[in-house]
Amino acid sequence: MKVVHVCANPKPIEESASKQLAAAFFETLTEKNPEVEIDNIDLYNEPPPFLSAQALRALYYPSVDPGYQPTEEERRACEYAVQQASRIRDGDVLVFTTPMWNFSLPGIVKAWIDQVFSPGILFQFEGITVKPLHSIGRAFLLAASGGVYKEDDPRDALTRQLRALLEFVGIPELSVAWADGQNPAIYGDSDQRRELALEAARELAEELAETLAART
Ligand SMILES: Cc1cc2nc3c(=O)[nH]c(=O)nc-3n(C[C@H](O)[C@H](O)[C@H](O)COP(=O)(O)O)c2cc1C
Repeated sequence: MKVVHVCANPKPIEESASKQLAAAFFETLTEKNPEVEIDNIDLYNEPPPFLSAQALRALYYPSVDPGYQPTEEERRACEYAVQQASRIRDGDVLVFTTPMWNFSLPGIVKAWIDQVFSPGILFQFEGITVKPLHSIGRAFLLAASGGVYKEDDPRDALTRQLRALLEFVGIPELSVAWADGQNPAIYGDSDQRRELALEAARELAEELAETLAART
């Protein structure tokens, strides 16, 4: 079983609540299920280029014109997307570690998603439906925010957007551990909030380890 971990945070772990959630999650997961393989994609170490016209042609034209052959330049422009999507296709579980920035995902994750979640490499269009080309059955989000957001808060574009994107490519289940209220100048209980989120991350990892063990 392989877990693909997409981490989007430039901060060192001591300064990052979301990275601490990831450490708790993976420590518990590997302790409970030492067989699990983890593929770490640190987006700040392997940053995505922005989508170019050449990459767009190479990724999207074949779904409208099956005979379309990309030029060498177009092929090179989508190399990053093709390689990243192939790592996702090798996985069974997808984990995102990310802060909330401006109510949403950091731009680096969006740039990654814009090209990796593309037809021909992660899914294919069949008429108006989308057929997954991967076998990711579950996804997790390990997140942190300065503010506190009630469930279904309209300002929260982080979980909403990620859930919608994952559903679109055929990943229906997103479980979330979220350290909110991490701005200690506003929330006197930010440490307790982080502790609760760490506990939630460990519980999610335990539950995932049990599910994976039952499958083997
Ligand atoms: C560029 C930037 C934008 C941010 N935008 C928001 C925001 O919209 N809402 C919020 O609650 N916190 C926001 N924050 C605060 C972070 O979400 C908070 O510091 C969180 O702990 C970051 O996660 P980390 O500790 O894993 O880095 C922002 C921080 C930065 C640096």
